[in-house]
Amino acid sequence: MKRVAILLSGAGSNMVALAESMTGDHPARPVLVLSNEPAAPGLERARALGIATRVVDHRAHVDRAGFEAAMMVALRAARPDLVALAGFMRVLSPPFMATFSGRMLNIHPSLLPKYRGLDTHARALAAGESEAGCTVHEVTAALDDGPTLGQGRVPVRSGDTVETLAARVREMEHRLYPAVLRRVAEGNREVLFLP
Ligand code: GRF
Repeated sequence: MKRVAILLSGAGSNMVALAESMTGDHPARPVLVLSNEPAAPGLERARALGIATRVVDHRAHVDRAGFEAAMMVALRAARPDLVALAGFMRVLSPPFMATFSGRMLNIHPSLLPKYRGLDTHARALAAGESEAGCTVHEVTAALDDGPTLGQGRVPVRSGDTVETLAARVREMEHRLYPAVLRRVAEGNREVLFLP
């Protein structure tokens, strides 16, 4: 059974989708939800799902090295086979990510390589895109880069706001990320395209 650690900083809707998918004959189970944000609502949602949680408050450390050392202690204790970033809002250093090379995934709310970085929906709307979506990729040293493992496309509709588009993309995230995680846990790294 593969052990999955999930890192988050906020609401945790992707964590819930991932955790709820890991049942029955799924070859993986969530073993830890780790947050840098003590107030992250995702922590309470993880506890409600019976998943172990840890907090490493980035504000409690004088520098990134100290924060990441504490993160590594918490992560190693969980002995994860895979680490899923799910709305984790701290940039991790290359040495930290190298520890989990090939075993750390992230979901980004755009069709990479378009719209790396933040405010992806506002930028897609401003550019008049006809479609948007999300990408699950392996985490490498470069931000929002790394081999693509899955992409989910959604239409942009006239009258869309950032909120309506974000909601449509999030629905696709909750389909894409669990599907990609399962394939990776089964040893399949073939790129998945949805719908
Ligand atoms: C999602 O939009 C995801 O694409 C991005 O951060 C957001 C996390 O949302 N990485 P949630 O905390 O999973 O609800």
